[in-house]
Amino acid sequence: MNLKDLYIDFFVKKGHKQIPSAPVVPENDPSVLFNTAGMQPLIPYLMGETHPYGTRLVDYQKCIRTNDLDNIGDTYHHTFFEMLGNWSLGDYFKEESISWSFEFLTTVLNIPSDRLAVTVFKGNDIIPKDTESIEIWKKLGIKEERIIETSDDNFWIAGDIGPCGPDTEIFYFRSNDPIPKSFDPDDERWVEIWNNVFMQYKKNEDGSVVELPKKNVDTGMGLERVTAILEGVNDNYLSSIWKDIISLIENISNKKYIGNEKSMRIIADHIRTSVFIAGDNASIKPSNTDQGYILRRLIRRAIRHAKKLNININSDWDILIANLIIDKYKKYYKELEENKSTILEVLTNEKIKFNKTLEKGLREFEKITNNISNNVINKDLAFKLYDTYGFPIELTCELAKERNLEVDIDGFKEKFKAHQELSRAGSKEKFKGGLASTGETETKYHTATHLLNAALKIVIDSSVHQKGSNITNERMRFDFSCDHKLTDEEKSRVENIINEWIKEDLPVVVEKMSKEDAIKSGAECMFVEKYPDIVTVYKIGDVSSELCGGPHVKSTGCLGTFKIKKEEASSSGVRRIKAILE
Ligand code: ALA
Repeated sequence: MNLKDLYIDFFVKKGHKQIPSAPVVPENDPSVLFNTAGMQPLIPYLMGETHPYGTRLVDYQKCIRTNDLDNIGDTYHHTFFEMLGNWSLGDYFKEESISWSFEFLTTVLNIPSDRLAVTVFKGNDIIPKDTESIEIWKKLGIKEERIIETSDDNFWIAGDIGPCGPDTEIFYFRSNDPIPKSFDPDDERWVEIWNNVFMQYKKNEDGSVVELPKKNVDTGMGLERVTAILEGVNDNYLSSIWKDIISLIENISNKKYIGNEKSMRIIADHIRTSVFIAGDNASIKPSNTDQGYILRRLIRRAIRHAKKLNININSDWDILIANLIIDKYKKYYKELEENKSTILEVLTNEKIKFNKTLEKGLREFEKITNNISNNVINKDLAFKLYDTYGFPIELTCELAKERNLEVDIDGFKEKFKAHQELSRAGSKEKFKGGLASTGETETKYHTATHLLNAALKIVIDSSVHQKGSNITNERMRFDFSCDHKLTDEEKSRVENIINEWIKEDLPVVVEKMSKEDAIKSGAECMFVEKYPDIVTVYKIGDVSSELCGGPHVKSTGCLGTFKIKKEEASSSGVRRIKAILE
């Protein structure tokens, strides 16, 4: 059995239910571009909602973290990675969580406990020291000199607000050197492999921290790191997860991994992440904003490093790598197989686009850098490279670094912001919302999206389906399949129907049922594969029935007046409505 299966099996035997991996692009959570941790799709449940699978959950989750691209190229950071996670939603707490992690590591994976060390929460002005975890670790045989207390590093929160709590992190000594007696978390030979977060608090927007209704456990273990450890390699890229991808890059480039590690790792990492972004059902395409910008940057950076290895960019090198990745992962993520042609098209189209400007851009870059006097690429030049030649700022920085030049990044950012103002208008609002901050207003909008979905089916036809949605506390945005621009009459009919339903104060009821029954009953759902076997269905009177995790209002009377502000094309065959509740 591989690590993923061993992990799931272990926690299922401890009474956990396996839940499917959510898409990499979060649904209904505009506060983040990608799921960065296994807990992200579970935020409503950590905050107190009832999960249809119960109180003990386990999964492997596709995660993407792009905040620190500079680390990519080392032996153990990846932009895409799989996180193994187990959760207690108000069920077990520290004792079981820590003991089971230790049991899994030492008896299932047979890791000698002498190679392990831990950090625990030291306490701060608001939250006391986690003496309980320290005692549990000692009881399990972890020596005092292997237990380090910290404040900042042992309090975990995804972003700025939401569920959070003290954590205990487990480290593994990954080196052939003799194992030091005491533990130093800053010594890079000690690699963090698992984090157990005791989520009993919620941080609010005003910075205050309050107790959650229930004490939860959220854990995350990095699949790539632990696989490398189990296979006895000190470089993740030499483990079975990456080995064949690296050898393919060796063959394509006719170069050895040794001596070309950085570029090969970046190509492998970035193509893999691009495959998972483009293969997500959210249909992300390279663009200049949000997830699309990340996808563009990753593909372009991979191309740049392929060039460094003298790979013929116009050959199908990227398609070969992507195909291998899809084959490796399709057993666990069938969306990759289903969206294979889209993934390959995204890579090819972006390559063609980038190629067109890259050569010209590089020439321009040489010209610019030969003519500057103070070793600084100023904001205007950096912006020109971005705007005219499609150079992501990171590429300009990378090229500059190779030539010992500096870039006025802050100046560039200012110009970039001014330039983007129009297309990104409202993005501030957009990032304000999110599952963690689901307040009363967002909840109302959430219910309104169900009503809008139902009304569109009446006014247009029953084949209309939701393609996406985004809620802030000021408006809702709803994408749906439809082949034409809505007429004024259609828009006002939609408004009238919804306002009628609001007036009728229809009750909103939640029911649990099997996914099969829910679909048979005609309940609306966006991504069938995402839902567990037992699902929650929200019904609004007899006008709407949708698979959904909530939260929703109790009845429609409180929604106010529904008003469409804008109707426009979103992408081919998809329309977008922006609406408000007044
Ligand atoms: N949510 C925790 C993490 O990502 C487990 O580290």
